Amino acid sequence: MKPLLLRALHGEETDRRPTWIMRQAGRFLPEYLALKKRYTFEELCADPALAAEVTMMPMKRFDFDAAITFADLITPASALGVKFRFDPGPIIADPINTPAEIRALVVPSGPEIAPEVAAAQRLIKPQLKADQALLGFAGAPFSLAAYLVEGRGKQGFPLLRAMLAEDPVVFGELMAKIALLSARYLVEQHKAGCDAVQVFDSWGGLLSLADWRAHVKPHIIDLLTHLRDAGVPTIFFANDAPHLAREMADLPSDGLALCWRNDLVALRAELGEHTGPNLETGTKALQGNLDPAILLAGPEKTAAAVQAFITAMPRRGHIFNLGHGIMPGAPLESVAALIETLRAEAGTPSEHHSA
Ligand code: CP3
Repeated sequence: MKPLLLRALHGEETDRRPTWIMRQAGRFLPEYLALKKRYTFEELCADPALAAEVTMMPMKRFDFDAAITFADLITPASALGVKFRFDPGPIIADPINTPAEIRALVVPSGPEIAPEVAAAQRLIKPQLKADQALLGFAGAPFSLAAYLVEGRGKQGFPLLRAMLAEDPVVFGELMAKIALLSARYLVEQHKAGCDAVQVFDSWGGLLSLADWRAHVKPHIIDLLTHLRDAGVPTIFFANDAPHLAREMADLPSDGLALCWRNDLVALRAELGEHTGPNLETGTKALQGNLDPAILLAGPEKTAAAVQAFITAMPRRGHIFNLGHGIMPGAPLESVAALIETLRAEAGTPSEHHSA
């Protein structure tokens, strides 16, 4: 049986739309916070059995349509020889900021990149139901580079943007190496049992349209093309990048995930007319994009917001998600209300939408 998420990703008609939540495998579940009292985040990521256990926590409680592997954006950087710790976000011991350091980076073969992640995935996949998907993930070149160059999370990541202005050739070398790292890493995850992978571009929206198009987009295309050639279904996620959304719709990914600042209903209507190189089936799946803060307003408001959104958003080719990660402190009752509202869609006609 083909998992529901994969059918939606390929633009097939489905009985209801699939749902998962970004960052569902950490951050907010009480059982995760309890486990965090016994282990550090690094220990949970390093042990495939523990990473598999955390990945399954939200599945057991909420029966989502997809599980996202428990790991971090920075995880594959250790294969580049980069040392890091977490407090709470990634902190790099020696940030990479000279042309010599960038030229010295060697991208290892796939099996050498974070093998503990593939090991966890081999444990997770058999625990899922036949119609549930396992998702792997990696960072988009700009977003992983942002941490490597800046050394830690920083508002606006100015060092990487300055590097682009100072030496676009060196910046391009860094983008190309990370694109290859993420591509090889994601192919390994697919081999380990992932049905699809999500490329997270948390910070790509920091650039102007002109800079993104000239200096970043080609590397994302290389990454996605590598995955397409290897037969790996892909979702490309961009946070806080409404000015890039229309350009991102042309990327060779099966799905495009956007944050809540974007009007997904309008984009769907527009893409209906659109035929790009990636649009073999005539559609492109869209994923998202409820404002994660709505969950803090409680289960009734959450259910109403989900219902209003799915009434407006055509079902076919839509994967429901929040616009960004679930917030710490999101009430479990709100997540339950969200899931219940989406489940109730099963059996209702999908034709009532008119774009
Ligand atoms: O979706 C999931 O639940 C799977 C696991 C996952 C983590 N990080 C676990 C994690 C995923 C998909 C990520 C991706 C990630 N990590 C991104 C891209 C997605 C996004 O949110 O934009 C980014 C930018 C990071 C970097 C990062 N790692 C930050 C900013 C932090 C700080 C705390 C936080 O949760 O945001 C981390 C640490 C981290 N990664 C934690 C978890 C569960 C918290 C560690 C802890 O519990 O102490």
